[in-house]
Amino acid sequence: MLLYSDFSLKDSNTFNLAAKAEYYFEIAERQDLESFIRKRRYFEMPRIILGNGSNIVFSKDFKGVVLKNLLSGIEVLQDDDNQAVVKVSSGEDFDKFVDFCVKKHYFGLENLSGIPGTIGASAVQSIGAYGADVKNYIQEVEYYDFADYSFKTIKGEDCKFGYRDSIFKNDLKDNAFVTSVTFKLEKKFVPILDYDYLRQRLSEFQILTPNIVRRVILAIRSERIPDFRQFGNAGSFFKNPELTKAAAEKLKAQFPELKAYEQENGKVKLAAGQLIDLCGFKKTEEGAKVGVAKNNALIMLNLGNATGKDILAYAKKIEKTVKEKFGIKLEPEVVIC
Ligand code: EPU
Repeated sequence: MLLYSDFSLKDSNTFNLAAKAEYYFEIAERQDLESFIRKRRYFEMPRIILGNGSNIVFSKDFKGVVLKNLLSGIEVLQDDDNQAVVKVSSGEDFDKFVDFCVKKHYFGLENLSGIPGTIGASAVQSIGAYGADVKNYIQEVEYYDFADYSFKTIKGEDCKFGYRDSIFKNDLKDNAFVTSVTFKLEKKFVPILDYDYLRQRLSEFQILTPNIVRRVILAIRSERIPDFRQFGNAGSFFKNPELTKAAAEKLKAQFPELKAYEQENGKVKLAAGQLIDLCGFKKTEEGAKVGVAKNNALIMLNLGNATGKDILAYAKKIEKTVKEKFGIKLEPEVVIC
């Protein structure tokens, strides 16, 4: 287990923000968690768990301990005619695992190709994209419980998965370090074509294979999401707001161009990116440090040497403008610390 102090986090977050961690521990094996709790001085400090840093804004230096998740390993537990069960250590890269699945002919996750972040974060954040949700494939999650110093397993159906939400962001927020996620995947390929634009892009193919779906998704993502190595970003900055049907209808009467998607819970989801776009944020002033992506206003960009404070100030400006124009309060999708 390696410990660093005053550790630069600039290369550990995709917004490329220059923040420092007071202490930085690498968790490369499960036993490192047990070693960590024995270091009482550090254990009692504030802490955050860091995966690939692709969904986080460091607003300042972190006073406390950053636990960097480097747990690795992919273990196939079952592989028969109907399904595959695979246990994946939480520090593994999510997209590396999607690639592994496509190659092994384990299906379900191909629409989630190209999502940055770790396996652990995929469960904590309950990721979803292009008509697929990771929660539908999670059989169980193992975590280390800092409250009673033990490893525990929780079934997928008990993880309280919601839209970018899970038990790990609520009841277990401060005490769980996810160590592995066990996925249950299909052996028969059924393409998920609920997302209109994907269906359209796939319509030119006579035969659909998981690999084609993966390639097309990767192409769509690269058209819509700038490479963080060029312009630091953390994907969608805000969640898409959910309104009651009545509120959505009222708003649509005023702004007929608004995209509105009915949800299973009876609510209506609007596209935050469109709301921000309609407020004119795609026009960037000369020399600005922060802006939004030309192809997707939901993605905030570090255009130069922005600090976390610059990013948050711009987010506040967006929130205020959207609230004034549409009466909607946007909520961050990224983690702010
Ligand atoms: N739109 C605009 N202008 C914009 C951006 C979007 O008009 O500047 C419109 C689009 O034309 C589209 C609608 O808004 O009709 C929705 O946009 P899109 O389909 O690109 O999806 P999104 O709302 O930007 C969400 C997820 C993404 C996920 C995509 C695809 C959230 C917060 N974001 O983005 O997830 O990849 O759908 O399913 O739910 C993430 O969570 O970080 C993430 C990238």
